Amino acid sequence: MPRFLRRAAHCVSGGSSRERRRAHAANGLGWWNSFRCKVNERLVESTADAIVTSGMRDAGYRYVILDDCWMAGRDAHGRLIENRQRFPSGMAALGRYLHARGLKFGIYSSANTVTCAVIWDHYPKTLGTGSLGHEVDDARTFATWNVDYVKYDRCIGDTRSFATMRDALRKTGRAIVYSTNPEFAFNIDPRALPGLANLWRIAPDIFPTWSSVLSTLDAGSQYAVLAGPGHWNDFDMLEVGRGMTPAEDRAHFSMWAMEASPLIAGNDVRSQTVVTKAILTNREVIALDQDARGEQAVLREETGPGLQVWAKRLSEKNTYAVVLLNRTGQRRLMYVDWYYDLGFSGSASIRDLWQHADKGSFARGYATLVPAHSATVLKVVRTK
Ligand code: GLA
Repeated sequence: MPRFLRRAAHCVSGGSSRERRRAHAANGLGWWNSFRCKVNERLVESTADAIVTSGMRDAGYRYVILDDCWMAGRDAHGRLIENRQRFPSGMAALGRYLHARGLKFGIYSSANTVTCAVIWDHYPKTLGTGSLGHEVDDARTFATWNVDYVKYDRCIGDTRSFATMRDALRKTGRAIVYSTNPEFAFNIDPRALPGLANLWRIAPDIFPTWSSVLSTLDAGSQYAVLAGPGHWNDFDMLEVGRGMTPAEDRAHFSMWAMEASPLIAGNDVRSQTVVTKAILTNREVIALDQDARGEQAVLREETGPGLQVWAKRLSEKNTYAVVLLNRTGQRRLMYVDWYYDLGFSGSASIRDLWQHADKGSFARGYATLVPAHSATVLKVVRTK
């Protein structure tokens, strides 16, 4: 990774440098995919309870990230205030509720005078106030509420506000993970992003369809060089458990983990099926996402149309993660070659991370049948 990116990783928000690097644990739960603007205190609290009882918290989903529509304008002193009809106990109390359950508190604002929901989701203009021009005050307010994560959307706003908010958050002295959405391809140089935030969206909003998952994956893959410990490409909230097939859900989850994207569940975890929960809590796949090297996998080979071999190195010596991604509608025999795809010759032992099974030791490579719209995820350890 270029030196300037590594340095930039340590300068985003407040807190000790250890806390900032560890920010790779920013997995959690987002709001928008399932609920859009429909958010209230009881919903957040019952969801937080479900994260704990389902075992998701202990699998690493720590950040409960409120999205848009929690706010209700500013008070007479210019302070951003919460929507008390939706959150009668207020934001500080919500933060206490989450912290008491070992969770972290995420909140949302925008680099415009209004938030995205005012522009696209009919949230009243008088309520949906953004932070443009109030970055210092709002960062202070968030710190007072003991917020741990800020999602900062551009919402056709002013991109200069991203740096202003970064500096304002840093000035609070609180360790706050800073997530941005520059609404890509406007006037931000991608190489500046790791210095600007801990994470940044790389594509428009995701939908629960196979084609949306693939187009988001392809959009983010071009920015692999930007990812590293403490700074990641954000492939958007997960659509696992929202209507795709279990195979598609597993492939989607696998690729987000391979890409070291934050894993932010976007389903209603209070009513998720056993299958959805098993996908979201596959610790062996989550470990690929959280690997200390922070590397984002790259496409090594396309052995036929839609038959892709993705790989990355892991922090353990001689260890790689490999995904055989079958984007096609037919079951296909797929193959990873140690030399062509991973750069070594000799033997390697294989573990299948969805089957939770060791498959043995293989010279030169490994072949397996991969069903339509699905992925086989392998941990490969070079043995000689
Ligand atoms: C934008 C973002 C979404 C969500 C909405 C909220 O569309 O990309 O993730 O935060 O705004 O209005």
